[in-house]
Amino acid sequence: MLTPKETLANEIYQALGCPEEPTKSALDSLIDPPKSADLGDLTFACFTLAKTLRKAPQAIASDLKAALERQNAGYQKIDAVGGYLNVTLSDKQKSKELYQIVAAGDNYGRSEIGAGKTAVLDFSSPNIAKPFHIGHLGSTAIGHSLQRIHKFCGYKTVSVNHLGDWGTQFGRLIVAYRRWGSKEAIEQGGVDALGEIYRRFYEEADKDPSLNDEAREAFAAMEAGDEESIRLWQWFKDLSLAEFKRTYALLDLDFDSWAGESFYNDKMSAVIDELKEKGLLTESDGAMVVDLSEEKMPPCIILKSDGSTIYATRDITAAIYRHNTYHFDKCIYVTDAGQSLHFRQWFAVIGKMGYDWADKLIHVPYGKLSINGARLASRTGNVILLRDLFADAIERVKQITLERNPSLEDIDAVARAVGVGAVVFHQLSTSKIKDISFDPEEALNFDGNTGPYVQYTYARTQSVLEKANLPLSAPETALSFCAQEQELFSVLTRFSSVVQKALAESEPSVIARYALELCQSYNRFYQNCPVLKAEGDLKSQRLNFCAATGTTLKNCLWLLGISAPRSI
Ligand code: ARG
Repeated sequence: MLTPKETLANEIYQALGCPEEPTKSALDSLIDPPKSADLGDLTFACFTLAKTLRKAPQAIASDLKAALERQNAGYQKIDAVGGYLNVTLSDKQKSKELYQIVAAGDNYGRSEIGAGKTAVLDFSSPNIAKPFHIGHLGSTAIGHSLQRIHKFCGYKTVSVNHLGDWGTQFGRLIVAYRRWGSKEAIEQGGVDALGEIYRRFYEEADKDPSLNDEAREAFAAMEAGDEESIRLWQWFKDLSLAEFKRTYALLDLDFDSWAGESFYNDKMSAVIDELKEKGLLTESDGAMVVDLSEEKMPPCIILKSDGSTIYATRDITAAIYRHNTYHFDKCIYVTDAGQSLHFRQWFAVIGKMGYDWADKLIHVPYGKLSINGARLASRTGNVILLRDLFADAIERVKQITLERNPSLEDIDAVARAVGVGAVVFHQLSTSKIKDISFDPEEALNFDGNTGPYVQYTYARTQSVLEKANLPLSAPETALSFCAQEQELFSVLTRFSSVVQKALAESEPSVIARYALELCQSYNRFYQNCPVLKAEGDLKSQRLNFCAATGTTLKNCLWLLGISAPRSI
């Protein structure tokens, strides 16, 4: 069944004489709910058509109004004002659309914008040997959400965890292990014990800088394939991965590819040869670099003076590999903003190599996260582990829930969903580029602009439906909407354009903020419009409001990578 928006797009398309340009879907994207509900339910902006049709926007709007009135599609009102065509749906059309949201369920808001296209998303990507700390929350949460947004919009997605599993840090770790570690201690203490000796390396190297040379040599041995070093490296990697996967499980997150930096070890020399052949490599202080002075950037180092490869060498190689393997239409990298120059540099190198897909590489940077909660002091020095951040939030939610709703079944599972959801929502509700400060009290406030508030509102919609215990259906006779219903209706019907905005801007916060707005609008409706006490068609219409809100909130939460428990 077509939505009123699709129906209107069809009607406009026909009124224009079914032209080649603009296409029906282009027209569809020009239709939105109007800024204010008293302008109607749908508005079509005529400005972009003015050029193609060689007519003033207001004249186009007036002509369309006349054509639509001739077609008599059953609208309540059609207005042409200031270059906009404003359409007010009839009560019948509106209650039908409301029910369509309910019927669409998990599919409500999906689109085919990305059909036939592939998006590779490189995110989370922690460094093995270093702790998985809160600095990676942004990449993990934003990347996970962007993956889901792309899927929802019809893209085929490939999520890649570009693990930092190669590099000089392993030289340090191997030296640290040989000096201060033992098999038993690491087996017992896992990643924490690794973190411990890694930290000790820095302390000791401050006093004795020759340790740094030793670490460089250890890494060189590893790069040369020394068996004992490789065995240690694999062991450290396995230990870390097992730990990371526990955190990913909390987030219901898995990756299609775990090809980390080490995966490109045997693929880099071909790329270095290619750079040489293309005349892009020049020597600078013993290192081999690609000059980027034309691009007004410092040179991109490819080989260090000791001949070893670096982060950028692996990123260039990985991009070429991914392009050959996945034929992506976009490849998105989510990292902190501190890495912006790195990405600009090597994206430019890909361009200089003559690859026309360089413009399909997209860096999505985000700001810094700081913590305002004393209880989060970490066992591994001054970094705060993501694992501890989640554990703390879960524990706090458990305490709150024990007070609020002691009879709740499965408190542990709910505390996990709400605690993790609170942390993720907090990260995603601010524009990603802003620095944010995480205050557990604030993020867990059930009445604030928080994840728990959204999850709780969703759970309330479900409990109303359960209490009513009636099958949902489109009401037989259409009733007109009261003010709160009209407002909620226009928020609900905006959902797909919200998703598309989030996609276009790579900005999950658009969805998070919309979810809050929907909750507020629903709560106003719920306070003013009795649902369970209503009768007949009014009751079924209001139940449809509860169900449509529940569906939309659940889809919002899914898009943010947050689960939606039915009761809290
Ligand atoms: N491992 C890096 C870090 O922890 C992030 C990697 C991002 N992805 C990439 N292809 N460079 O900062």
